[in-house]
Amino acid sequence: MYATPVLACHIATDQRPRSVRIGASQLFILKYCRGSSVPEGNVSLESGSPLENRGLRPLRIAIFGFGTVGSSVARILTESKPEGLELTHVFNRGVGRKQVDWAKGVAWSDDADAVLASDVDVVVELAGGLDPAGSWVRRALEAGKSVVTANKKLIAFHGVELERLAAAKGGHLKYGAAVAGGIPVIPGLEQGLAGDRIERMEGILNGTCNFILSQMEAGAEYGSVLREAQAKGYAEADPTEDVGGFDARAKLAILMRLALRVEVDPEEIIPRPITTVTAVDFSYARDLGCTIRQVARAQKTDGSVAATVGPMLVDLRSPMAWSRGTENMVILSGHYGGDVVFSGHGAGGHPTAVAVVSDLLALAHGSRRVEIPSAKANVAGEFEVPHYIRFLVNDRPGIVAEITGALARERINIRAIVQKAGYPQQALPFVVTVEPCKSSALQRALESMRVMDCLLEPPLDLQMLE
Ligand SMILES: NC(=O)c1ccc[n+]([C@@H]2O[C@H](COP(=O)([O-])OP(=O)(O)OC[C@H]3O[C@@H](n4cnc5c(N)ncnc54)[C@H](OP(=O)(O)O)[C@@H]3O)[C@@H](O)[C@H]2O)c1
Repeated sequence: MYATPVLACHIATDQRPRSVRIGASQLFILKYCRGSSVPEGNVSLESGSPLENRGLRPLRIAIFGFGTVGSSVARILTESKPEGLELTHVFNRGVGRKQVDWAKGVAWSDDADAVLASDVDVVVELAGGLDPAGSWVRRALEAGKSVVTANKKLIAFHGVELERLAAAKGGHLKYGAAVAGGIPVIPGLEQGLAGDRIERMEGILNGTCNFILSQMEAGAEYGSVLREAQAKGYAEADPTEDVGGFDARAKLAILMRLALRVEVDPEEIIPRPITTVTAVDFSYARDLGCTIRQVARAQKTDGSVAATVGPMLVDLRSPMAWSRGTENMVILSGHYGGDVVFSGHGAGGHPTAVAVVSDLLALAHGSRRVEIPSAKANVAGEFEVPHYIRFLVNDRPGIVAEITGALARERINIRAIVQKAGYPQQALPFVVTVEPCKSSALQRALESMRVMDCLLEPPLDLQMLE
């Protein structure tokens, strides 16, 4: 399936072009350096510039939330002075402790009402969460202002309603930074891919999980990698949103609307945590030519929509396996255009701020996005894919016969049974992989195995991406 993907991406860190094998074809990727600081230079609006010639004045911008992303947006606006954008206000609670001397001429405020009532044209919401961010966004749109946000939760749960409000009041709502941070997957869908019919998508949408799993692939243990991720600021003190799959499912719901053109309730997407994956699974995955990543996937077949988020086996030769550390990746499969791969830095102040500033520039230049129609849908479909099932048993005769019997009753074909040497009989892990089967049939088979007295824990079932 990864025969000829197009690479639409910012990839990463060194400058050597390199080639990577994908199935039978070869894809050349130009890697280049993305420095951590904003480039010097002033590209300010000069007399006779395109915007001035069109009689457009700079947009007056208020940033709501001067944290990691908000301060990076202010940096870019202040240092690069992109044409047509003027940072006029920063709102944050207790704003005194946020004030910086490099943002000249900016009005600092801890009064949201006053900034909303001011003459700013665009509110850039970078506080996060549903409330009060949602109410600021609504009020700004009600007042006919435009809004740019990186708030995936707000957009996943209320994006459709807010877009309608923006359209009704003559403003715009842009959220290019809400999924995959600095990777232009949303603008890519709205512009470059709007002419295709996307039928399926797979993504690594959570940098924290990708960091944890790619470190585990290299031999680290879950607990220590999580602590390292927390120390580096990649993971929250309570990592549930990330490792439980909730963050990725909000992003998946946003992408599903733009790619598959379906409006789904994010809560209908059942996330599976990465916490059940152990070193044993990486070892077995390697023997099967795979590794493990947290993948968010969705597809639309004959009007039925399937979506899920969780740890999955990915082929070591597939683009997903290249994604390491906090990188994100999205693969979109179009009916006409085939596979397109987006990859790069999915988070971080500067990469995310680039996406925010790009949205602002699109507003300043009056560029209209393509209106992508969408309709409400339930996540009711099923994937029919191969699975990896890892058992942990207290060994005794007849176990394999019981497992194969349970699978056969659901008409599920076994692909391979793998048992590595070196584990104790009393806590023996082994793996069964099965040919593509419906998730519901496999769940029934696993349910019927629960009575087996030898099972030390419920079997771990992971989809295999092919
Ligand atoms: N960081 C990333 O890499 C990244 C990537 C993609 C998308 N995003 C999204 O971007 C948004 C901002 O993320 P971030 O990482 O910049 O968060 P952050 O560092 O926590 O910054 C949030 C800022 O908003 C302020 N704030 C929060 N609630 C507020 C309230 N009720 N009243 C006034 N000020 C409030 C915070 O002030 P205090 O300092 O007082 O808390 C803080 O300065 C979120 O929606 C996030 O999901 C972030």
